[in-house]
Parts: sequence; structure tokens; C-alpha cells
Amino acid sequence: MTRHFLKDTDLSPAEQAEVLDLAVELKAAPYSRTPLAGPQTAAVIFDKTSTRTRVSFAAGIAALGGQPLIINPGEAQLGHKESIADTAQVMSRMVSAIIWRTYAQSGLEEMAEHSSVPVINSLSDNFHPCQILADLLTIREHRGDVKGQTMTYFGDGANNMANSYALGGVNAGMHVRIAAPADYQPDAAIVAEAEALAAQTGGSLTVTDDSVAAATGADVLVTDTWVSMGQDSAGRDDEASPFTKFQVNQELMSLSNDAIFLHCLPAYRGKEVTAEVIDGPASVVFDEAENRLHAQKALMTFLLER
Ligand code: CP
Ligand code: NVA
Repeated sequence: MTRHFLKDTDLSPAEQAEVLDLAVELKAAPYSRTPLAGPQTAAVIFDKTSTRTRVSFAAGIAALGGQPLIINPGEAQLGHKESIADTAQVMSRMVSAIIWRTYAQSGLEEMAEHSSVPVINSLSDNFHPCQILADLLTIREHRGDVKGQTMTYFGDGANNMANSYALGGVNAGMHVRIAAPADYQPDAAIVAEAEALAAQTGGSLTVTDDSVAAATGADVLVTDTWVSMGQDSAGRDDEASPFTKFQVNQELMSLSNDAIFLHCLPAYRGKEVTAEVIDGPASVVFDEAENRLHAQKALMTFLLER
């Protein structure tokens, strides 16, 4: 059966750990696995802009022996003249994987339903699961094992990153805290899913609007832009922004358990994080960005070898 990766929980806790182990192996020996040898083509489709995702998938596909086909916003018939179902059936006959950055999660689900090759979500409005694999790899490298660590996310608690931290972090057995304004907290469905998963993995999810309590004793502090791609900045990024109280600054860092700082990037210094923190000694954001490459190579190897 074709395996897809549309959201964090599409890998079981054991499979997620297996992918991370493989990422460590591939980081040490970048050309040791070549599931795309031939070379086979993998399509990487963008409906939104990207730097890290574009470069890491292109470099990763090439390193696995394959040929990346990058399709930029507006270049394909998809979304204009042709349905997702027809696109999936056409592309499945020519490529070995479809990697898609898009808006609605339902589009990815439809693509996967009609595709005979793995479909990978490289960011939707709802999830960014490839980013969380890279983050977990980074946490392993800097803090030892991920299981049992406490990670606090500050900011928009209802965006793709928050959802993926909630599910992907708890999947890894982490204690995830989401600190967000009352109107920007995760959907009840995400909370319920994370809580059910926590019962299996020993992790937990806490949602709060108290950024001081959320930072206290945490091992990892993380944030994301206040305005995600496709969102209107009005009411999010002005003087009255509800997110101002959730900025990651030195004061919050000093309450933590000597935490590392993560950010998926691109970052807005002076908004969700101060320059002092993101450019300071606790920040591992460039290791995190590099780990997109290693984690995605491991993910593609896992999916293609199934
Ligand atoms: N973090 C991330 O996905 O970056 P890009 O938007 O540049 O791909
Ligand atoms: N939440 C951000 C993540 C960017 C990688 C966005 O969707 O724009």
C-alpha cells in the first residue's frame, strides 16, 4: 500500500523514531541510500513561496539518486484548468513521489487518494510536518532524546506550525505547551487528537495564555511568524497585535531550563522573537534549517522503500 505523509500522525511513534534514526545515519553518510537511483523524478509543487523547502527537497532528491522537478506557483494546470484527481493520476505515472506545498489540507488528501506514489505535505494551511521532523532531529542533537522533553511554542496557536508541534511533538513523547492569545488557540479537534496520542506515548499537551508559566522550566522555546502565508496581516501585525505578549525574548529564555531556541524561518526580528534571542547563543535555527535536508531524505527513503 502506498504510504503518504500529509500530517504528523501519518507516522506512528515507532515509525517517526525510525525516520529520525535514518536521518542521523544520512547526515553522517549523505549518499549511503539511493532509493531514487535511475534517476527517477520526484515532483515538488509550490502554490506558496519557499526557500528552505525548495532547496532541501531539490538537494535531497538529487542526493538520493533522483531528479527533482520543481513546479512553481501558477506553472501547472493544477488549480486553474485541471482537477487534483486528474493531476494525481497523470503525475503518478511519471514520477516517484509528489511533494506539495499548498493551502487546504483537503487538497492534499484528494491528491493522496488518487495517487499511486507517495504524497508529502511540504506545508499546508493546517500542518507543516516535514518541519517538525527537522525540529525533532535538532532537539535530539542538542538535548539528547526527544522523549520527555518540554517544548513551548509561543504565538499563533492555531496555525500550521502549532498544529504540527502539538501532534508531532506528542507523537515523539514530548510535553508540548502552546502559549497563545485566547482567540488564537488550537482547535478542539487538534487538542483531542493530541490528548488521545499522549495517552499512548507518555507525552502531553497544555494550552495556555500565560507565556511566563509556559516558558518556566521548558527545554525548548519555539515561535513562528504572526502572519502565515495566505493570511491578512490586519489585526495580527500592528501595534495592538495580540501576539506582542508572546514574543520570545531574553526574559522568557531566562525562565527556561537553559532552553534551545527554534524557529522554522523566515523570522521577523522584533516581532515574534528579539534579535538578541535568535542571534544569540541558545539559538539553533540554522542547524534546524539544515536538518530539513536530512530529515526529508530519511522520510523519502522510508516512504519509497515501503
Ligand atoms: N521553514 C520553511 O518551510 O521555510 P520556507 O518557507 O522557506 O520553505
Ligand atoms: N506559519 C508559516 C510557516 C512558514 C514556514 C506560514 O505558513 O507562513
